[in-house]
Formats: sequence, C-alpha cells, structure tokens
Amino acid sequence: MDFAAELLKWYQQNKRDLPWRNTTDAYIIWLSEVILQQTRVEQGMPYFYRFLERYPDVNSFANAAEDDILKLWQGLGYYSRGRNMLKTARLVQQDCDGIFPTAYDELLKLKGIGEYTAAAISSFSAGEVRAVVDGNVYRVLARYFGIDEPINSTGAKKTFQTIATDLINKKMPGLHNQAMMEFGAMLCKPKNPGCGICPVRIGCYAFKHNATTYLPVKLKK
Ligand code: ADE
Repeated sequence: MDFAAELLKWYQQNKRDLPWRNTTDAYIIWLSEVILQQTRVEQGMPYFYRFLERYPDVNSFANAAEDDILKLWQGLGYYSRGRNMLKTARLVQQDCDGIFPTAYDELLKLKGIGEYTAAAISSFSAGEVRAVVDGNVYRVLARYFGIDEPINSTGAKKTFQTIATDLINKKMPGLHNQAMMEFGAMLCKPKNPGCGICPVRIGCYAFKHNATTYLPVKLKK
C-alpha cells in the first residue's frame, strides 16, 4: 500500500475547511503557522482572524507598536512568539521591500523563522518540495514505521526529516504536508487514535504491534 497516496486520499475526503488553506499568501500562511505553534486550531482561529483584520499585510504588521501586538496576543501564551513576529515583519519590510519571501532559503535567512515555518510557507505558497516536520508528523511517522528513537533526542530530527522528505509528494508537496498534519491532528491523535477507521492501519507498525500508547517515544529530561 502506498502510504502517502492513501493519506492524500483520506485528506481530500476528511479535511477541515480552514481559512489559511485557501490562500497562497505567504504572510497569511506565516501568521497562521506561528499562531498554531503550541496552540490548537480551535483556540488559534479567532486570533488568526483578529490579527488578519487588524494587520492585513506584512507592512501594516511591521508598523504596529509592540504593545498593540502583545495586547492582541493576550491569551495565546508564549509571548515571545508575538515579539519575534514583529521583528520578522520589520525585517521583511526593510530587507525584502515588504514582500514576504516564499523560497525556503530566503525564509530561513530571516531571524525568527525556523525550518518548520520555512517548509510550511514555501510548500503551501510556492509548491516548493520541503517536508514539514512538527509534533503531528513525528507521531504519525513513529507509529507507522515503528521508529522508537526518542523524538527529543539529538539525532531524531534528522531521522524524521529524512523519512518525511522521502515520503513527500513531489507534485503536490503542500497538499501532502497539510495531509500529514491533518491526519496527525484528527485521526492519529496522541490519545485514543482512530485506528478502527484508519485507512493505513494495514501497513502500520503500531497498529500491528498494539504500540500506539508507547510510540512516539519521548525521553523524560
Ligand atoms: N497546525 C499547524 N499548522 C497547521 C495547519 N496548516 N493546518 C492545521 N493545523 C495546523
């Protein structure tokens, strides 16, 4: 069975209609991805709309006062995210003529944008073949392929990045990435995963070995 193909099919039949999926605007994708880091979709959604309404483009964001950003951010936690966003927006304004980059390498040059966010923006907005690896992706891959390397160990990032990159659909990298994340969020959940209705359970190591409760492995530090 082709794991990636099944996943894509599942996604097209089951995906939620989320506002940041109907755009290729790098600024809007950036806004949504930073809000959704450490924040659930249901919680992040109203913030996403509020920010977009107040700051419809990267220049209006860059011109904002830090206090206003932090006020809008209230309730989301991890306030450094809000502060870093302002720094990033100002860099885009100064160094990129106010045009949000869509290329992975350009994005990584911006202080405050890491590999995950660069992969998300470049694949969603420009179709660049870059695999996103977040907590959802770690969980899905660890379970399906039976990878017991602790996800917070030194080598894990490379291991999972390599597998994710091997799997990505070269023609539809953005859709594939969305599908991986959606599958992790909706079906291959941390607790009580939906194995009973899972389209890829036949090939899944964790399903076969009854191991969803201990995969992925995370070291206590
Ligand atoms: N979590 C992080 N990024 C996401 C996205 N693009 N869609 C849904 N959930 C997400």
